[in-house]
Amino acid sequence: MRKPVIAGNWKMYKLIGESIESAVSLKPLVANAFHAEVIIAPVYTALRSVADRLDGSNIKVAAQNCSVQNEFGALTGEIAPVMIKDAGCSHVIIGHSERRQFFAETDETVNRKVKAALGAGLIAIVCVGEDLASRDAGTQNVVVEEQVIAGLNGLTVSDMERIIIAYEPVWAIGTGRTATPVQAQEMHAHIRHLIAATHGNQVAEALRILYGGSVKPENIAELMACEDVDGALVGGASLSAESFAGIVNYTG
Ligand code: PGA
Repeated sequence: MRKPVIAGNWKMYKLIGESIESAVSLKPLVANAFHAEVIIAPVYTALRSVADRLDGSNIKVAAQNCSVQNEFGALTGEIAPVMIKDAGCSHVIIGHSERRQFFAETDETVNRKVKAALGAGLIAIVCVGEDLASRDAGTQNVVVEEQVIAGLNGLTVSDMERIIIAYEPVWAIGTGRTATPVQAQEMHAHIRHLIAATHGNQVAEALRILYGGSVKPENIAELMACEDVDGALVGGASLSAESFAGIVNYTG
C-alpha cells in the first residue's frame, strides 16, 4: 500500500509572519490525518521559522527549489540542498513547470538537483508535465516520458525510495482547468509502467505519483479514487489552511 502524500506549494506567497500563521492554523486541522503524509512548501526565507513551529507535528516542510550542488561555493543567490535540510526540511520540490518555464530549468538541471537533494538526505518531489500544445498534439506521453527518464537518469533502486513524482500538466496549473480523473489515471499508469521498465516492478509499485493542477477540496476525492494517483501537489488551494485541510482530509 502506498501512503498518499498531500503537498502544498505556496509558491512566492506569504511573508514570514503569514507563513507561520498558516502553518500553525493548519496543525490542528490535519492532526488526525493518519492516512496521508502532509507537506507544505513555504518560501525559502520562512522555512526555518515554519519548521520550528511544526516540530513534533505530522506536517513536514519542503523547499520549492534547490541548487545543483551541495558543496559550498561561489554561487551567488543559490541555496544548497544541505542548507535546506539545515533549515528543517525533509523534502524539496524539483523541476516545477514554473522553474522550467521562467528560469530555464532543463531535464539535465533537474537531474543534477535531484542527485544533490538525495545527497543531502532530502526526499525529492520531481515535477513533470506536458504543456497545452503537446496535449493538443497528442504527444503528452512522449513528453512526460522524456522528462521522467532524463530527470531520474542514473538513479539507483535505493535512490528511488526517496523520489516522489508529481505529474502536473502545465495547462491545468493555476488555470482552474483540472485534468479529468481519466486523463490523470492514464498518465500516472504510464509513468508507473515506465518506472517498472527502468527500475523494476517493486520500485514502480512503491513509487508515489502525485497529481497537480487546480486541485481543490471539491475534486480531490475523485482524483484520489484513481488507482495510480497517490496524492496531490496543490498550489492555489494550499494557501488557505482551511481549504488545504479540506484536501488533506478528502476521506471525509
Ligand atoms: P495550482 O498549482 O494548484 O494552483 O494549479 C499547482 C502547482 O503549481 O503545483
